[in-house]
Amino acid sequence: MNQKEIVVSGVRPTGKLHLGNYFGAVQQFLKMQEQFDCYFFIADYHSLTTHPSPDGLHNSVKQVLAEYLACGLDPDKCTLYIQSDLPQIPELYMILNMNAYMGELERVASFKEKVKSQPDNINAGLLTYPVLMAADIIMHKATKVPVGKDQEQHLEMARTFGNRFNRIYNCECFPEPHAFNFGDNLVKVPGLSGKGKMSKSENENFAIFLADEPELIRKKMMRAVTDTGPTEPNQPVTEPVQNLFDLMKLVSTADTLQHFTETYNNATIRYGDLKKQLAEDMIVFTQPIREKINVILSNTSLLGKVAKQGAEKANESANKTMKEVREIMGFRKFY
Ligand code: TYM
Repeated sequence: MNQKEIVVSGVRPTGKLHLGNYFGAVQQFLKMQEQFDCYFFIADYHSLTTHPSPDGLHNSVKQVLAEYLACGLDPDKCTLYIQSDLPQIPELYMILNMNAYMGELERVASFKEKVKSQPDNINAGLLTYPVLMAADIIMHKATKVPVGKDQEQHLEMARTFGNRFNRIYNCECFPEPHAFNFGDNLVKVPGLSGKGKMSKSENENFAIFLADEPELIRKKMMRAVTDTGPTEPNQPVTEPVQNLFDLMKLVSTADTLQHFTETYNNATIRYGDLKKQLAEDMIVFTQPIREKINVILSNTSLLGKVAKQGAEKANESANKTMKEVREIMGFRKFY
């Protein structure tokens, strides 16, 4: 029998899902659940680096689970679970930490960024973040990991730690996981601040969330950063404007994009019109998802049922791997 390839990916419950999460990750999950053996989870352990309150953590986990379902993830097609329902994850994380070195962890770009942006909270969890991520991925022996561009280096680390384990113990326990996207490249969805990616941790006004009400989307879009506008035909496009065109590629029709590209190129563009159109297209895109999120969120019994079913399936897979890992490492029972 031909076994399906294994897919693992997760989202941190540090806030609601935004268009970056959707186009970088969840859209890929939807397609992958039809073809592969998929494990999609809510990375609640990963969110601890930012010290959430217990109620905040609890609510965010439910929110992301409801959003996963509202986007179309189907618990009968994929294994949908909460990371902290797998005690095997911290076990494998601890084991992998023994062969993860300070030097390589300190060189990770996301760690260096955090050192700069939050100098008073450089905790050990931040340093070993890629090790925890590697544990998530190799726990189910995944080969494909649908993620956005920002996670590329973490995937490289997951390969390093899996391969290192295989080498040290002279085994083939873990296959190599690779970042995956159905397109040619990993996706980076820009934010509205004029620079950089859309993100949960930056200013909320620069991200569009799937759960945002139409009025809020319009307001945020009107405040999106642009430039002073082209003064003559065929000027190069600046980053803030390119970002809006990139967002348009995701939610608008080809005709709309072409219209605004042409008006830019003949220097007649009105950014107000572009922003209005983009806001309306975002509203049309997010509306069916937003409506479902609210219905699902109020159905606590459904959320509970899904989480329980997912925990059972994910535990089965994790137990199998940990049994093998313990045997390989010499944790053998003699009593
Ligand atoms: P997180 O929660 O920051 O983001 C979840 C997913 O959304 C993608 N993403 C983006 N893609 C494109 N453009 C953007 N602006 C954008 N913003 C976010 C991310 O690339 C990611 O795929 N460490 C992970 C969670 C995690 C994980 C894992 C992922 C923990 N363990 C194992 C894969 C496999 C994170 O913080 O993602």
